[in-house]
Amino acid sequence: MRSSEKISRASRPHRILSTVHLAHLRLRDFRNYQRLDANFPPGFHVLLGDNAQGKTNILEAIYLMATLRSFRGVGSAQMIRHGQRGYFVGGKVIGQSEHEIKMFWSARERNLTLDARPVKKLGDYLGTLRTVVFCTEDLQLVKGTGRTRRRFLDLLLSQTQPGYLALLQRYMHAVRSRNALLKQFSPDPRLLDSFSDELVKLGNDIITHRRELIPKLSPLARLAYRRISNDAEELRIAYAPSVKTDFTVELAQVRERERRFRATLIGPHRDDLQLLLNEKSSAQFGSEGQKRTLAVALKMAQAEYLTGIHGSPPVLLIDDVMGELDVKRRSGLLPLLERARETSGQVFMTCTEENWPRELSRDLQRWEVKGGSLQQIG
Ligand SMILES: Nc1ncnc2c1ncn2[C@@H]1O[C@H](COP(=O)(O)OP(=O)(O)O)[C@@H](O)[C@H]1O
Ligand SMILES: [Mg+2]
Repeated sequence: MRSSEKISRASRPHRILSTVHLAHLRLRDFRNYQRLDANFPPGFHVLLGDNAQGKTNILEAIYLMATLRSFRGVGSAQMIRHGQRGYFVGGKVIGQSEHEIKMFWSARERNLTLDARPVKKLGDYLGTLRTVVFCTEDLQLVKGTGRTRRRFLDLLLSQTQPGYLALLQRYMHAVRSRNALLKQFSPDPRLLDSFSDELVKLGNDIITHRRELIPKLSPLARLAYRRISNDAEELRIAYAPSVKTDFTVELAQVRERERRFRATLIGPHRDDLQLLLNEKSSAQFGSEGQKRTLAVALKMAQAEYLTGIHGSPPVLLIDDVMGELDVKRRSGLLPLLERARETSGQVFMTCTEENWPRELSRDLQRWEVKGGSLQQIG
């Protein structure tokens, strides 16, 4: 008995140890939560409740800890509980080691600490908790502007390449400085040249990262799309870079136009992704259902990619998406959830009583969300 237990443990100890989960969540004056302290073991958590009770707010807080952004695309001021001065979001993350995150935000004071030390470099912090969110806003990946798709790429690269965020920040700084120079009445040509050199050097690094990522992401998204849809289309993601071959040459070619527009007109800040179904633009020709499926497929690809790179799955945050997909389509998500289960990963999923996926009834930890409080259902 004891020896067989030893063997089965020994065959997969590393995977279990390295899977990262959010063990504790603490909220103060965040959205409609005055105070919340909850312990979450690894596994599958279903947050049940009527509309406007605070289910999405919990996912928003977890995502905020992971990425320092809201997936609703709002600023921090909106997340402060009405009538209060600031919010606190904190938690304990357990993986190979244990980490304590504390985040406070008010109009006057911002404070982020990891293990009681102020965070200096965001690039170092961002790997502490990795999440992938599935939410209604994902549809903007297909329907929205290139900016949404660039953000998707940038988040994924920040989650996998240690220096990427710092590189991106330096590049965006270079764009802003160059734009400011172009806005002057007659910009000093030598200064403009040196700003252009900096832009090209940083920009080319970003382009290289994106160019390498997309061929790895595309097959994962294609597979995910096939699993979710029963349609025959093939998905392909293609990089649509603003710079076609040589940044320096192309920048020189647009110099006259830049003088008129007084802004930097080419570079990775203008990149896009093409989402093609049977080689046709999904934004232009896809049906609503296809667009929704595609958005979910992109997020599944993100999760698969992160799992492959880090050897452990990200924490999955699934907001109402299961209710939106029909039963056939949502069964395509099951392999991802099954994998999370096998690797002792963690999933948080919100549902209302009517639309919760009964096919997932095994091993669920159910919570009731009601008017800004959270209670485990026995
Ligand atoms: N800054 C805020 N302060 C207080 N309450 C808020 C704030 N922002 C949103 N709410 C409240 O949170 C509730 C919506 O929470 P949400 O998590 O989106 O609900 P759902 O359970 O439908 O996902 C609403 O009652 C809304 O009034
Ligand atoms: Mg909601």
